[in-house]
Amino acid sequence: MSIALDGLLFAVGWAHVLLAPYTKVEESFNLHATHDVLMYGTGPSTLHNYDHFTFPGAVPRTFVGSVILAWLSKPIIQLANQQGLISQKADMQVIVRLVLATLNALGLILVRRAASRRFGRLTGVFFTFLSISQFHLPFWMGRTLPNMYALLPVNIATSFLIDRAPNSMKPPKMSTIIAIALLTFTAVVVRAEVVLFLVPVVLQSLLLKYCTITDVIKVGFVSGVLSTALTILVDSYFWGDYYTWPELTGLYFNVYQGKSAEWGTSPRAAYWTTHLPKLLLSSLPLSIVGFFLDQRIRTLLLPSFLFIGLIGGLGHKEWRFIIYVVPIFNVAAARGAKWMVSLPKRTILGRLLFLAVISLLAFNVLVTYFFTLTSIHNYPGGQALALFHQLYPQGQTRPPPHIHICNLAAQSGASLFLQENAPPYPSPSYLASAHPVTNSTQWTYNKTESLSLKALTSSKSITHLISETKPDNQVQRDWKVVASVEGFKRWDVDTSLLKAGPRDLMTKSLFDVVKMVSEEKLWILERKR
Ligand SMILES: *[C@@H]1O[C@H](CO)[C@@H](O)[C@H](O)[C@H]1NC(C)=O
Ligand SMILES: *[C@@H]1O[C@H](CO)[C@@H](O)[C@H](O)[C@H]1NC(C)=O
Repeated sequence: MSIALDGLLFAVGWAHVLLAPYTKVEESFNLHATHDVLMYGTGPSTLHNYDHFTFPGAVPRTFVGSVILAWLSKPIIQLANQQGLISQKADMQVIVRLVLATLNALGLILVRRAASRRFGRLTGVFFTFLSISQFHLPFWMGRTLPNMYALLPVNIATSFLIDRAPNSMKPPKMSTIIAIALLTFTAVVVRAEVVLFLVPVVLQSLLLKYCTITDVIKVGFVSGVLSTALTILVDSYFWGDYYTWPELTGLYFNVYQGKSAEWGTSPRAAYWTTHLPKLLLSSLPLSIVGFFLDQRIRTLLLPSFLFIGLIGGLGHKEWRFIIYVVPIFNVAAARGAKWMVSLPKRTILGRLLFLAVISLLAFNVLVTYFFTLTSIHNYPGGQALALFHQLYPQGQTRPPPHIHICNLAAQSGASLFLQENAPPYPSPSYLASAHPVTNSTQWTYNKTESLSLKALTSSKSITHLISETKPDNQVQRDWKVVASVEGFKRWDVDTSLLKAGPRDLMTKSLFDVVKMVSEEKLWILERKR
């Protein structure tokens, strides 16, 4: 039983990776850092090749997570290669993402086990069903966002905060201390916003006498100093600076200087009114049931409430900043669902509540189906570059293509893992069947930003474009349209069907009524000679 539930958490994480293998701009720093660690190694002589020196971004980010992810992925890639499972460099990206999804599934499994022990096995079962039927967490847990790196230590901490005998008055002191140590590490090294979760956890632990103030000072000091040393050592090395502490720089830049507000702000309550409902789906109503039902759930949810309240004070809001509370709400929701299905089925109420839980889970599945389908079609850049490699087999085009990759393509999937005909090439231990690329057949992938079509046309060395501008007749004088790639535009509801009589409707499914509309997003252009 337990194994089957674990299997579901792994399988759903992996399925999302395989369904949508390409990545977006938010993931690209960590994805490219992982790429560079895998391809160049971490020796000082190769560091200058790293992508972050070309595209440094607004603030430095930590390399700690990506180095660990690359080192964990390396033996898996080599093993897959020995089994003949790798046929192109892009497969390495899929494996890296599968490894990350696996790690985050492990974190969720720890939370599930703790919840089973504390609130009963059925709660663990519902925790799994709720988690896998949601969209955001399963879809993103295999994506190299910094928040998804932070999710693992936070989930381990969460499992320590939950795990104890059902009726115990207090957790073992060591559990609280480990949780505080992990959250401190995460806040210092990976994501500074986690400090807003750490503070309520610490205050609650002190008030409920789970540990003493001396304990907190000791563990905070030890974990804080070690974590700071780690990030400064690692990141100063990779950023080639005397002193780099990315999360502190980010805090200064985004919060103190208020730069994050430039990305847009939303009202204080937005996390409650939009982000949380979207992340939780039907776990939201169910967690309210759990909240009123069980004192232990109220105690568990309190730090999450305070966290969302505190982080709501920052103008710039994104769902990923509060992803850490989703497993905690799912435990609360699972507790509520357990109660609802446990009432005697003889009574009308018992049957109704049972039905309600089933409907809520079905609702999750339905919403997730549409979200997933939308997202699969949201990576035209990855699709375009993959298509490009199919259209122009390596070694057969002379001169070798010099492709300009437009901004949209670069941001929607054209990652370094996909640029297979230019260095760095995978070593034979990663990709045995690598076709030999010589200097004379080597491609150039050019991501220079803000070049107009006119400028691109006049810079003669560029032979091909992946362009986001619809090619008009003027453009087609110089460029041949080779292919186009479509992407998601919107969902259309076929209202004519809704107006139709009930008998017509019976024969139609929901999928006839709701249709995805796509549009051309990118064009592959070849220079006319
Ligand atoms: C390829 O070019 C690099 C420098 O651009 C050079 O060091 C290397 O020797 C060349 N290799 C071959 C096979 O020509
Ligand atoms: C990319 O194209 C621009 C514009 O032609 C050019 O200035 C730049 O050197 C190119 N970059 C590479 C790496 O070839």
